[in-house]
Amino acid sequence: MKKVIDRIFFLKKQHNAVVLAHNYQLPEVQDIADFVGDSFALSKKAKESKADVIVFCGVHFMAESAKILSPKKTVLLPARDAGCPMAEMVTVHDIEQLREAHPDAAVVCYVNSSAAVKAASDICCTSSNAVRVVRSLPNKRIIFIPDENLGSYIAKQVPEKEIILFNGFCTTHKRVTVEEVDTARNAVPNAKILVHPECTPQVVEKADYVGSTAQIIDYANRSTDEKFIIGTEQGVLHWLQAKNQNKKFYLLSQKLICPNMKKTTLKDVLNALENMTYEIQISEQEIEKAYGALDRMLNV
Ligand code: 13P
Ligand code: SF4
Repeated sequence: MKKVIDRIFFLKKQHNAVVLAHNYQLPEVQDIADFVGDSFALSKKAKESKADVIVFCGVHFMAESAKILSPKKTVLLPARDAGCPMAEMVTVHDIEQLREAHPDAAVVCYVNSSAAVKAASDICCTSSNAVRVVRSLPNKRIIFIPDENLGSYIAKQVPEKEIILFNGFCTTHKRVTVEEVDTARNAVPNAKILVHPECTPQVVEKADYVGSTAQIIDYANRSTDEKFIIGTEQGVLHWLQAKNQNKKFYLLSQKLICPNMKKTTLKDVLNALENMTYEIQISEQEIEKAYGALDRMLNV
C-alpha cells in the first residue's frame, strides 16, 4: 500500500491537485486527504482552493457541488458509481409541482440533491446550516426538499415558519430504531448519545444532542464527558478516536454504514490521479443557475 500512497502524493504535486474527503470515507482515504470534513466544510474548501484539480472522495452530489462552486477546476470523483440515494429522490418536476401548490413559499434544498434540482431551488443548505438558512429567509412558508427527517427537525427548531415537507430520506440514517437507542443507552450508561438529523424524529427525540457530522465531532471534542454513542455514519469514529485517545466512542447501530461512501478505495484515488477520472461535467447554464443557490447558502 505504501507504493500506492507514495504515487498518490507524487501525482498530487504533479497535477497541483487537492484531495478532499468526507468524514464518512474509509479510514485509509481520510488519512491521505489534504482536508477531511462534512459537506459544508468541503464545499467551502472547494471554493477557496487554489488547486487546478480537486479529487473529491465522497458521493456524486458533493463532487458536483465542488464543480458548481469552482467551474474552472477539474473535479474528479474517484468511484464513478458513488451516489447518494436521497439525492435521486427528488426531481425538478417535483419542485415545479410544489411551487404551483405553494406559490408564496421559498424552496430550500438540502445539498444532497442533483445540480438540476439545486438550479431550480432558491437556496441550498447542509445539515450544519439548515436552521440558519431557513431562519434567514423572509418567507413564512418553506418547501424543504428532499429529506423529510431533516425538514421535521428544522420545523421544530423554527416554529415561526411553516415547513412543507417532502418524502425523501437517507437510506442509512433512517434505519436506526428507537429500540437501538434504548439498547445502546443501557449498554453504555453515562454515555452521551449524539445523532444526525437525518435520523427519524423518534430517534432524534431520544438523543442528548442533535447535529450535523461536523457538529457531532465538535461536540465530542469539546465535551468533558468520556463516552459517546455516535448516531451517524461509522466513518466519523476514525477521526474522533484518533484525536480523543482518552474518550470512548461507540456506534449507535451497526446499520450506520453508507455503502456509497465506502466505495472509494486508495486505488480509486490513484486511478483518478493517473487518468484524470471520473471528471464531473455540468453544462455552463446549469452551473450558473445552481451556483446562485449554493453561493447564497455560503453567504448566510
Ligand atoms: P453532512 O452535511 O453532515 O456532511 O452530511 C452529509 C450526508 O450525506 C449525511 O448523510
Ligand atoms: Fe446519502 Fe445517507 Fe449516504 Fe449521506 S449517508 S451519502 S445521505 S445515503
